[in-house]
Amino acid sequence: MSRCCLLICTLTYFVSLSLSATSLYDFYKITRQESFRRFLCWTDEKEKISQAIKDVIKTDNGSLLDIGAGDGSISKLLEFSFEKIVAVEPCESLFKVLENNCNSEKYLLGNTSFEEFVMDQKFDVVVASHSFQYISNPDIEIKRIRDFLKDDGLFLLINLRKECGYWRLYNGYYADMLGEPPKCSYNFDYDIVSFLEENGFIVKKNYFDVTVNVPSVDDLLSLFNFFYNVEFSAIKEDAFKKIRMNLSKEYGDKGLTIDFENVIYICEKIKQ
Ligand SMILES: C[S@@+](CC[C@H](N)C(=O)[O-])C[C@H]1O[C@@H](n2cnc3c(N)ncnc32)[C@H](O)[C@@H]1O
Repeated sequence: MSRCCLLICTLTYFVSLSLSATSLYDFYKITRQESFRRFLCWTDEKEKISQAIKDVIKTDNGSLLDIGAGDGSISKLLEFSFEKIVAVEPCESLFKVLENNCNSEKYLLGNTSFEEFVMDQKFDVVVASHSFQYISNPDIEIKRIRDFLKDDGLFLLINLRKECGYWRLYNGYYADMLGEPPKCSYNFDYDIVSFLEENGFIVKKNYFDVTVNVPSVDDLLSLFNFFYNVEFSAIKEDAFKKIRMNLSKEYGDKGLTIDFENVIYICEKIKQ
């Protein structure tokens, strides 16, 4: 574990101690960015995703386009597998972290959405890790992804497996806490394999285990602003209290493991 991560985990530990909270208001001081940092300390997700990518790429010195690169964790972990990495990220605050993490000459970074990204280059690998579902007009953008690939290139789309433990947790609590769930959240409301096949790809898929090990029920609850992409102030206090009580009855002061099983769609271009 890096010294930086150790420091974050130590801070997290002290923040979690201060989370012997009694009401939702005690969670308000935790920002979504802070929740995301805590999540990263408790999960092996980024390591598992980058390993799943390394397992299927054909070359060790090609080019990578990382769509919706976030804080750059995945690009960074793939750094030694590619000669050139282009990473695009529209969110300004995440882009700053990306710039910090991915700062060698091998990178070209764009603070832009994929829809607005223009570049006259073809790639060996295009990765969309937990980001394709946020792209508007997927019918148009999937064709652009195909065009960005060399003839023998790979498009690797990574997402949560539908109906993993997190899926049940997310759906189980959404309506009570926040009302009607959004149409597009962290997964697809259409058949993604058929969609990819209809757009000129041969698709294989691999599943891989990812877990989040949370030290306590309150630590799990402290991630809800990040999980649900809302401020704590948007969550109904009564529902939150009830969920907290039920989880505490079930787990007491024990830690919890959430299953975040992922799926990687390995997409080869059909020759035309
Ligand atoms: C759940 S995060 C995944 C980050 C990273 N790929 C990873 O797996 O760690 C989704 C990312 O997609 C980005 N995103 C959202 N809409 C996008 C768009 N239209 N084009 C490119 N990226 C987008 C978000 O800003 C966010 O960083």
